[in-house]
Amino acid sequence: MSDPAQFDPAQPDPAQPDPGDLLELACRLAVNAGDQIQDMRAAVMSGTPEAETKSSSVDLVTAADRAAEATIVAGLAKERPHDGVLGEEGASRVGTTGTRWIIDPIDGTTNYVYGIASYSVSIAVEHEGTLLAGAVYDPAGEVLFAAARGRGATRNGHPITAGSRAELATALVATGFGFVADRRRGQAEVLLALLPQIRDIRRFGSAALDLCSVACGQVDAYYEKGLNYWDYAAGRVVAEEAGVVVGNLRGGPPDPGFVVAAGPLLFETLADALRVQGADDKP
Ligand code: IPD
Ligand code: CA
Repeated sequence: MSDPAQFDPAQPDPAQPDPGDLLELACRLAVNAGDQIQDMRAAVMSGTPEAETKSSSVDLVTAADRAAEATIVAGLAKERPHDGVLGEEGASRVGTTGTRWIIDPIDGTTNYVYGIASYSVSIAVEHEGTLLAGAVYDPAGEVLFAAARGRGATRNGHPITAGSRAELATALVATGFGFVADRRRGQAEVLLALLPQIRDIRRFGSAALDLCSVACGQVDAYYEKGLNYWDYAAGRVVAEEAGVVVGNLRGGPPDPGFVVAAGPLLFETLADALRVQGADDKP
């Protein structure tokens, strides 16, 4: 949770790009890619071409994931040719500007393949390792979450803020599961212990949208072990700019080891409940 503090909107670094400009481009690219994956959905759902698998037999990737990433990368090559790029489907470019774009072309590919309307295009921008802007677009619901560091977060242009719930017992908590059996076993054990302590659990299927759901108070909290950077980078900016605390279970910023997000009054209570279950130490 330390690096947002490195960015002081009152003391802009002249070498640093304007977060608002970065956000404007991130939003444009996310909406454009979202339209593209919507156009491709009928073909993907009819199974032509069939979805393939990645890290395990349940981890899906489609032609739409690859096409959307290619479109975003092509847009960046045109508008910010010297920036770095990291994308879930393999895009990787080392830039020369200190600015890097983190892309998840479809976060929630399983939902996308099954026709469940909870998936998103997620684009974050960092400069010298500090996240400055994030755009998460839900093309099925036509909802755009956007945030630039120091300037607040919005949902379709309207400012959003996290809920203020403090008690775990009445908290609605979102989570997600990895794609490998051993990890899922550990995640199920944690869930088994947590479920009797909370209002209820939600598994929407897109980590980026989960974080945005905490940001707009649609759920009270979210946690997941084992995400990739592209799953949470943009959602993290949206959540933090909405006043959500986003961290790991070791008192640091969120990382691929663990991501917990909740309002300031709830964060430590949820983190404690997860620590008691050894959530961080499982596979
Ligand atoms: C997945 C989704 C899911 C989360 C998984 C992620 P993908 O991303 O965010 O909600 O539980 O851990 O891998 O594979 O659909 O881009
Ligand atoms: Ca993802």
